[in-house]
Amino acid sequence: MGREHSGSTRVSGPLVKAGSELDAAGSRASATGSQDGAARRLPVAVSPSYDVVIGQGLLAAAADFVAERHVAIVSDEHVAPLYAGSLSDSLRGAGKQVMLLTVSPGEASKQVGVWSQLLEAMATSGLNRDAAVVALGGGVVGDLGGFAAATYLRGVALYQFPTSLLAMVDSSVGGKTGLDLPQGKNLVGAFWQPRAVVADIDTLATLPAAEFRQGTVELVKTGFLGDPWLVDLVEGEWSPTVSPALLSEAVARSVAVKAAKVAADERESGVRAHLNLGHTLGHAIEAASDLQLPHGDCVLYGMLYAALLAEGRGLSDLVARFAQLIERLQPRPLPELDYDRVTAYMGRDKKAAQGRLKFVLLHDVGVPVVVGDVSDAERALAWRRLKEMMA
Ligand SMILES: NC(=O)c1ccc[n+]([C@@H]2O[C@H](COP(=O)([O-])OP(=O)(O)OC[C@H]3O[C@@H](n4cnc5c(N)ncnc54)[C@H](O)[C@@H]3O)[C@@H](O)[C@H]2O)c1
Ligand SMILES: [Zn+2]
Repeated sequence: MGREHSGSTRVSGPLVKAGSELDAAGSRASATGSQDGAARRLPVAVSPSYDVVIGQGLLAAAADFVAERHVAIVSDEHVAPLYAGSLSDSLRGAGKQVMLLTVSPGEASKQVGVWSQLLEAMATSGLNRDAAVVALGGGVVGDLGGFAAATYLRGVALYQFPTSLLAMVDSSVGGKTGLDLPQGKNLVGAFWQPRAVVADIDTLATLPAAEFRQGTVELVKTGFLGDPWLVDLVEGEWSPTVSPALLSEAVARSVAVKAAKVAADERESGVRAHLNLGHTLGHAIEAASDLQLPHGDCVLYGMLYAALLAEGRGLSDLVARFAQLIERLQPRPLPELDYDRVTAYMGRDKKAAQGRLKFVLLHDVGVPVVVGDVSDAERALAWRRLKEMMA
C-alpha cells in the first residue's frame, strides 16, 4: 500500500478494514452540510488546552478543525457509512490525504488485537509523526482511536468527532483513552488529550433510542453535579426529537460541567471523582450482570442507590426524584443479582482506595461530596430499599 493513504487495498484481517469505501458510501451522508445557527465553542483548560465545538453541519466543515495533512479516520461499521463520507470530503477538499479504518461496532472492538491492527494499518500506509487520528463515532471508537493516537509513534495528534450522545457529553472530553482486557473493562489506557472535540449534533438523528438513553444518563448526572437546568430538562420535554438548538444547549451545558471538573483535576485525585456519581454501584451491577445491563442503565440505578445512602445519613432527600427519573427513562429492569456478588464487584472497583469504598453522594443538586466511610449496614439497607422500589 506504500504511502498512498487513499488506496483501496484491505491491509488486514476481519477486525479492521482499511481503504476508500468512503467514496462509495460518502454521498449518503452529505446532508450534514446545513449550518443552522452558530456553533458553540467551550475551552477545556487542561494543558495543552483544547476546544469542544458543538453545533450543526460540523462534519462538512471538518477541515477547519484538523491541521495535519495526513489523516487516519477511525470509525465503526454503523457510523462510517453514514458520516465518514462528509468528513473525508471536507478533509480531501482541503488537500489532505485521508485513510479510513473501520472496526466492528461495539465494546468488543476495544481490544488489543484491534488496536494493533489499527497501528499496523497506519504504519503500512506510511503515516508519520505529522499525521492525525480522527475518531468518528461513539465512545468505543473514541477510546480505541484515542489510544491508537496516544501510542502510534509515541503519540500523534487526536481529534474526537463524537457521534453518540454519550461520547459527546462524556467520553470525548477529558483525555482518557483505552482498551479492555478479558479480565475487565478499561484496564489498558493512557491520558491523551485531543487537539479538538467536534460534536456535530446532526449525527444524533440516526442514534438508536436505547443509545440516546445511555447518553442521557451521563447528561443528567452532570446536571445533578453542577447544572440543575439539565435535570429539569430531562425531567421535562427531553427526547431524541427535541430541536437541534435544545440538543446543542444541553450537550454544551453538560460538557461545561465535565470540562470544569476535568480542568480542576487533570489526574483524578479530587473533583474529577465527582463524575463517578452512581458509578460505584453502577459498575458493580454492570459486571455482576455480565455486561447484560447497559452502562447508563446501571448508573441510573447507581444514582438512586447513592440517593438512598445520602437519605439514610440525612444528607439530602433526592430519592423520589431519582425514582421518577427511572420511571421516565425506562431503563432495562434490574436483574435478580446476588448481593454478595455485587458487593464483591464494588470492592474490586478500581476506585476503591485502601480497601475503602468511595461513594459520591449529593448534599443537594449541584453539591456533591465523596465519602469513604459508608458502613456495610448502610450499604445493605440501601440495596434492600433499591430492590423493594424496583420490584
Ligand atoms: N474515555 C472516557 O472518559 C469514557 C467515558 C465514558 C465511557 N467511555 C467508553 O465509551 C464506550 C461507550 O460509548 P458509547 O455508548 O458511545 O458506545 P458505542 O461507541 O458502542 O456506540 C453505541 C452504538 O451506537 C452506534 N452509533 C454511534 N453513533 C451513532 C450515530 N450517530 N448514528 C447511528 N449509530 C451510532 C455505534 O455504532 C454503536 O453501535 C465504552 O467503551 C466506555 O468504556 C469512555
Ligand atoms: Zn459512566
